[in-house]
Amino acid sequence: MIDLKRALGEAVEAAFAAIGAPPELGRVTPSDRPDLADFQSNGALAAAKRLGKNPREIAAAVVEQLAADPRLAGVEIAGPGFINLKVAGATLSDRANEIAADPRLGAETVAQPRRVLVDYGGPNVAKPMHVGHLRASIIGESIKRLYRFRGDEVIGDAHFGDWGYQMGLLIGAVMDEQPAIRDLVESANVSGAAPSDLAPLDTVTLADLDRLYPEAAARGKADTDYRDRARKITMGLQSKQAGYYALWERFRAVTQVALERDFHALGIDFDWWKGESDVEHLIVPMVAELDAKGLLVDDQGARIIRVSQQGDKRELPPLLVVSSEGSAMYGTTDLATILDRKQAFDPHLVIYCVDQRQADHFEIVFRAACQAGYAQEGQLEHIGFGTMNGTDGKPFKTREGGVLKLNDLIEMTRSKARERLTEAGLGENMDPAEFEDIAGKVAVAALKFADLQNFRGTSYVFDLDRFTSFEGKTGPYLLYQAVRVKSLLRRAAAEGFEQGPVTVSELAERDLVLTLDAFDAALSEAYDRKAPHALAEHAYRLSQAFSKFYAACPMLSAEPVLRSSRLTLAATTLRQLELALDLLGISVPERM
Ligand code: ARG
Repeated sequence: MIDLKRALGEAVEAAFAAIGAPPELGRVTPSDRPDLADFQSNGALAAAKRLGKNPREIAAAVVEQLAADPRLAGVEIAGPGFINLKVAGATLSDRANEIAADPRLGAETVAQPRRVLVDYGGPNVAKPMHVGHLRASIIGESIKRLYRFRGDEVIGDAHFGDWGYQMGLLIGAVMDEQPAIRDLVESANVSGAAPSDLAPLDTVTLADLDRLYPEAAARGKADTDYRDRARKITMGLQSKQAGYYALWERFRAVTQVALERDFHALGIDFDWWKGESDVEHLIVPMVAELDAKGLLVDDQGARIIRVSQQGDKRELPPLLVVSSEGSAMYGTTDLATILDRKQAFDPHLVIYCVDQRQADHFEIVFRAACQAGYAQEGQLEHIGFGTMNGTDGKPFKTREGGVLKLNDLIEMTRSKARERLTEAGLGENMDPAEFEDIAGKVAVAALKFADLQNFRGTSYVFDLDRFTSFEGKTGPYLLYQAVRVKSLLRRAAAEGFEQGPVTVSELAERDLVLTLDAFDAALSEAYDRKAPHALAEHAYRLSQAFSKFYAACPMLSAEPVLRSSRLTLAATTLRQLELALDLLGISVPERM
């Protein structure tokens, strides 16, 4: 059940072939002039060049081939040799009925499903999540849903940052501040104390970590003694000294509770919540194997893998596998994670949805993985993204200049959403729980759509007023449109009006069906380019097309046959819109 663009494309390609022109030139695109045509093909110009003929002559020959196609109401030549196609009303009606009857709303599945792992979110123990993590979570969640919907077997993994130097910094800071904890940890390191003796560690809270980490990070930068100590502690943790390890387990637990709360509020859900520490047991054998393969080079006490290649435009630094203190580094855990995932899931493709600023890190890790035979070229892919900026054009910070915590961002957006709802007179006469649920959905839609409507590589400016507006190209606008259709359908149902076969006649109906038909093309673009903005754009166009249809075509007051056709169009639009939004990670309330 292919879409009209592809079906007509095949016809035009066949027509090109029939007149001896290269068929691939017959490609069809949506028309630039929707007032004149639905689709167009510009291939006659290129074909003319190849065949040494006049483009209008070629176009005329193609048009003649297509003249008898019953799906077309008109085929015309425009300008220097563009071919304009107008679809017959009956064909549009058929297509509308097909989409209406399809549980997938006109979307295809991939011919060869793959196992795909999406590495996204990437939160860290103790380090507050910043806007980079917000984007990684929003984009990654959408890519996971999109890939799964297209038929791949997909796993989303948070890749929790819990095994690096920041752990040493934090352990040191907590021990300095709380002597009782320090004594306990030190004695446990020596004695390997039993878990019951370590219960006092449970007094360490998330608030402690939030307070201590920024100071510790700053001191680690300024003070070399402090840094050395933190590195030694990191080393001690990685060799699982009992005291450090127990304190670290506590950090991990309190952080995960908070993170799960924030991710849950954003409708983000990982299949795996694995951390860097989960591959700890693979590191020693991996290093031995890398050594045996002759890949490790000694470099001032550290062990590295060189990855620069001939033809590189600039020198890429090596992968630091073991530091001079003997610790595993960020890239080491990434390399071991590739092995771990291979054992657990054997993915055909791993998509790393991480800030563009880590592009070099991934290039280095991927090259090392290929050298080691852990992955094949093209199997690991980093999809970077730009930043969410403040009005100063730099990555967004709070007014005090700090990193914005995800929880604070969510709260801020919710309170703005409540304000907006009240302003618009929405959610009146609702009980507080329902109002809160709606405000939460509006907030999530605002944040996610503001992000996903841009190509991921583009940076954008954080503007809560604009994001939460019910007007313009925003998440709340889309929710409002969807809710409006829901209420229309409820009214129709209350009147006992039924839905029936679609017959397209009005211009606004044609446009709406053509937009519904474009769903699969939007999905496949989003899928191929790993770029959900194509889907966001589709959702927006669909609501606009619906708005025009709603304004131009009376529904409840129309005569029964027309009414039932239009109700089917409305219901189908709603289903496709909700599906598209769901793939963006946005859910629609029942009413507002
Ligand atoms: N935790 C990292 C950070 O905050 C992001 C992790 C991304 N994923 C990965 N496999 N390295 O920067």
